[in-house]
Amino acid sequence: MSYAPDIVAAHPAPTPADRGQIMATSALDTVSADEARHRLVDQLLTDGRITSPAVEAAFRRVPRHLFAPDGVSIGAAYADDVVITKRGPDGRATSSVSAPWLQATMLHAARLRPEARVLEIGSGGYNAALIAEVVGPSGEVTSIDIDPDVAARARAALDVAGYPDIHIAQADAETGWPGAAPYDAVIVTVEASDVPPAWTDQLAPDGVLVVPLRMRGNTRCLALTREGDHLIAMDSIVCGFVPMQGAGAHPVTRRALRGDDVTLRIDDPDTVRLHLDALTTALNGPRVDAWSPVTTAPATPFDSLHLWLASQPHPYGQLAVDRHRAADINPQNWVACPALLTADSIAYLAIRKLDDATWQFGARGYGPRAAQLTQRMLDLTADWDRHHRNTPGPHIAVYPNGSVPPPTKQPRLLVPRRHTTTAITWTTSGPPA
Ligand SMILES: C[S@@+](CC[C@H](N)C(=O)[O-])C[C@H]1O[C@@H](n2cnc3c(N)ncnc32)[C@H](O)[C@@H]1O
Repeated sequence: MSYAPDIVAAHPAPTPADRGQIMATSALDTVSADEARHRLVDQLLTDGRITSPAVEAAFRRVPRHLFAPDGVSIGAAYADDVVITKRGPDGRATSSVSAPWLQATMLHAARLRPEARVLEIGSGGYNAALIAEVVGPSGEVTSIDIDPDVAARARAALDVAGYPDIHIAQADAETGWPGAAPYDAVIVTVEASDVPPAWTDQLAPDGVLVVPLRMRGNTRCLALTREGDHLIAMDSIVCGFVPMQGAGAHPVTRRALRGDDVTLRIDDPDTVRLHLDALTTALNGPRVDAWSPVTTAPATPFDSLHLWLASQPHPYGQLAVDRHRAADINPQNWVACPALLTADSIAYLAIRKLDDATWQFGARGYGPRAAQLTQRMLDLTADWDRHHRNTPGPHIAVYPNGSVPPPTKQPRLLVPRRHTTTAITWTTSGPPA
């Protein structure tokens, strides 16, 4: 989520130790594991992440530590955080046990009920066991993973944990798993940039597809249901997942602007086609700072501002900045900061503290067009504040290619991919007119 920066400093993710949990040194210390598990569930209830007795019972029952790699402490296994289980040659995570808060949120988003048939895409075992608990003995859970090691580990852990009926298979998500379709829910637990036809073909008529969909670099976990020939999102939650491999792999393009200290992530073909070499020169020149009358308070998320800035018909990227080696850049977000671009200039979102209760939005820019671009970002921030800040968020719909999103007068971003086009429409309330 996006928050003002001191909120991150003032409220780091609470560790199990903060919550008074007893740390065990061995993942086999099941007494402490039980205690840690119940404390985690209590916290998820307090945080409003678990909102149904069925999901609560599932989290109280499934021993998460059995799905963590050897050497992961009970404390780490039961923290409300991701546990990395595999990394690629470049050191980036390729598999993990997802964070409990996100798993709980996705289980609720899938509207699971007893006896449901569910396909999970991206295995690990733990989340499949949670699903199996919620759908009960008359339900059916299939989980697929492209990585044979992950599938084998998930199978072994599920057997140890007592879930022999969950079906694990090694397969590429692109083709789903037709053998057990139709599914009442398809839950995708890997970042997708598109919705392949198999996922909707294998979904029951009133089924729910839960998918972390990347839209111009912004990933939102969408709960999609059918409406006519397309899908509409009922829920949209900010999230992060490991990227899709296989036939549906479509990584963002990364451009190094100042070595690896400042890189630009680009997720749309028009911006990728720009020659951005001049941005390196621009970043070594003078900086323009501009400040907006729009402010925010601590602990108030403003993720819709990121999506709003991404939704503009303007070359767009996200800056990733090493906060130690390029502190002078000082973006609002060090990992993925919205940036407006031209071939020779850049402006990105900034924020500064005015007092303990107030943070001010702004923009920083470099290059010959920095003044225009920073002013454009301030204007867009003002539009967001005036028209979109206090609404439930944009209307998001996914259209299979061949079916055309109806025209609208409202601001809209179309995200064209191989199989679908996602339409993000900024209404002030209700569906687009
Ligand atoms: C975040 S992990 C899954 C977490 C798991 N559901 C859990 O229990 O927490 C994402 C998984 O997706 C898998 N994956 C990536 N691309 C895939 C694809 N095309 N088809 C199937 N699985 C894929 C990765 O190998 C990885 O194990």
